[in-house]
Amino acid sequence: MKAVAVTPGTPNSVHLEDIPAPSLDQIADGLGVLVKVLKVGVDATDREINEAQYGNAPEGDKHLVIGHESFGIVEAVGENVKRIKPGDYVTATVRRPGNSIYDLIGTNDMTSEETYYERGINLRHGFLTEYFVDEEEYIVRVPEGLKHLHVLQEPMSCAAKAVYQAYEAQRRLKVWSPKVAYVLGAGQIGLLTTLVLKLKGLEVYTLARGEAPNLKAEIVDGMEATYVSTKDKSLAALVKETGKPDLIVDATGSSKLAFEAMEHIGHNGVVVWTGITGGDKKTEVPSDNINLNWVLGNKLLLGSVNANRGHFEMGIRDLALGDVMYPGVLQKILTHGVDGLDNYAEMMRLLVEDKNALKVFVNVAEA
Ligand code: BGC
Ligand code: ZN
Repeated sequence: MKAVAVTPGTPNSVHLEDIPAPSLDQIADGLGVLVKVLKVGVDATDREINEAQYGNAPEGDKHLVIGHESFGIVEAVGENVKRIKPGDYVTATVRRPGNSIYDLIGTNDMTSEETYYERGINLRHGFLTEYFVDEEEYIVRVPEGLKHLHVLQEPMSCAAKAVYQAYEAQRRLKVWSPKVAYVLGAGQIGLLTTLVLKLKGLEVYTLARGEAPNLKAEIVDGMEATYVSTKDKSLAALVKETGKPDLIVDATGSSKLAFEAMEHIGHNGVVVWTGITGGDKKTEVPSDNINLNWVLGNKLLLGSVNANRGHFEMGIRDLALGDVMYPGVLQKILTHGVDGLDNYAEMMRLLVEDKNALKVFVNVAEA
């Protein structure tokens, strides 16, 4: 069957690969789920993998099948599968366990090992193909009523985890009750984080470069949050209006902006970094000032990556509530669909070049 793959280490190597079809008996103990792929989303990680900045092939293979944002329909299940049945719409988590204690208890998103296994990214083949098989543990059911939001499940799981982690960590304060949040960046993670925070009742400001009106601003407004173009207003000027925020989530993909966020968080506040910066940029930061204010303000910096099944389930609940609260808004994120795996070159072109492509995905098959 067809799969879209790269040769890790070789820039711009994206190509079509012929791979064997998977079968249920590849998974032990009757716990396999065979999924027919319907749609797969791509993001900056796929771009970086194709630029050979990131990602490794599974041991013994030269190619890596890419695609980690999956959406499909269950074709068949092993005899011991309980939660999932044929005909269910599903997505799959991305990480697979290593050997640390975190991996062994189902929280491989928190592995303490340096090596991590991620389908479509690192050492495990991904989902940009016709069928895949995996253990029930990693398959997440998507309600049929959310199938129009298909490939948003995986990015949403990362947003849900990031916010959940911030709240968990802030339990250190016993009475933390945040009012004002900034989200830096209005790509998919920024927009979905905006939703999670709005549903928690916060006053949310989502900052991005582009001047309104534009699609990102329309989506932010549609979620009753406030879009701020950094061309009109600096972070410092916004702080003058709102007071220092209690929570900042950085989803810009710029390490410079991630550090800049640290200059603006309020006392007892938390800054969450979600960006994955594969390059080697260096930035000058006002380190004395940050150091002083962080100590005097008991501030917290948190990194958050990936998501386990629990976070996918949280994300799905928020997508469901968000979709009825702000009808029609979330699907506006899904801007650019490409038909068929054969069109992988167009998929990559949109991802790399098209500034209006908020979300690129491949329509692999019909249900
Ligand atoms: C994926 C995450 C993954 C991270 C690091 C992101 O693009 O969505 O699931 O953990 O990259 O590889
Ligand atoms: Zn991703």
